[in-house]
Amino acid sequence: MRTIEWREEGTVVTINQLKLPHETEFLELRTCDEVAEAIKTMKIRGAPLLGAAAAYALALTAHYSKAKDKKALIRELEAAAEKLRKTRPTGVNLFWAVDRILDKAHTFNGSARELAAMVVEEAKKIADEDAMANRAIGRHGAQLLEDGDVVLTHCNAGALATVEYGTALGVVRAAVEQGKKISVIATETRPKLQGARLTTYELKRDGIPVMLISDTMVGYVMYRRMVDKVIVGADRIVRDAVINKIGTYQIAVLAKEHGIPFYVAAPKSTFDPTRTSTEVPIEERSPEEVLYVGGERIAPEGVAVFNPAFDITPLKYVTAIICEDGILYKGDFSSLSRTAEKQ
Ligand code: MRU
Repeated sequence: MRTIEWREEGTVVTINQLKLPHETEFLELRTCDEVAEAIKTMKIRGAPLLGAAAAYALALTAHYSKAKDKKALIRELEAAAEKLRKTRPTGVNLFWAVDRILDKAHTFNGSARELAAMVVEEAKKIADEDAMANRAIGRHGAQLLEDGDVVLTHCNAGALATVEYGTALGVVRAAVEQGKKISVIATETRPKLQGARLTTYELKRDGIPVMLISDTMVGYVMYRRMVDKVIVGADRIVRDAVINKIGTYQIAVLAKEHGIPFYVAAPKSTFDPTRTSTEVPIEERSPEEVLYVGGERIAPEGVAVFNPAFDITPLKYVTAIICEDGILYKGDFSSLSRTAEKQ
């Protein structure tokens, strides 16, 4: 099954990622509000998946709408889009998907019912395109991996963060499918533990060898020459930087220090060439995420907490970006904007 699916009776089915790896709970969502809540609370997470989920949230709005004319339905879609835009600010795919559907809706000629059908079809297209992009990223990226490589990855940029297959883990999967022996070092990714809970879960299910380390161990494993390549995903790629899960920047700096290639795997829906890093809001989440581990408070009452969910890695630390069109090396990064314009 895909990580997110549309059922024709008007239901979005997805997996509750907060319960993994211990419990597989499927969510059946029927309203935009339900999808927005699932995104905010991170039952649904991962930038490309947020794009597909937001698209399907608009599809639900359209599917259940009682609007009599096109104008009224567009107003409902705009209200739903506003709610979605307020869920998580950093990953660009959500905004990209919402804008893509609204732009099409504004220029659509036809009845409210026809417009609703178009919105549902466009959402399905966005999801299908993500699945195809991940396979292509895998194919391109697999050339960069050699038999026997150990790949370090951070957070979860796998099937669970996308519609299927994954970006960074898609590259690993494609290399394994080509017959290469690849093993993975997964960082636990404090505070939400996407690496420990989700990346290890996905790879174990696929039979790909994975070793879990805490975030504090990255420097040591590189010093011990236990890592051949780093591959991470991205939440937004801007003109000067890759914005990804908190902790990515320190891994990139350490990789450079140790002469280890640092690759970013992401679909073009993650590119935002109109902005630079200072213009992107970095989400700050609740202090409780840092203060509690496994439901138990670990710090004294009253302590100050800073909990940014993402950080900024300047492009000078990035060896190459793998997207569905191919591999962009350092010298090609200025063409990011041209690539995105072609979308
Ligand atoms: O806070 P999350 O779990 O939504 O963050 C996810 C990440 O940072 C991923 O690395 C990124 O979305 C790329 S996933 C293909």
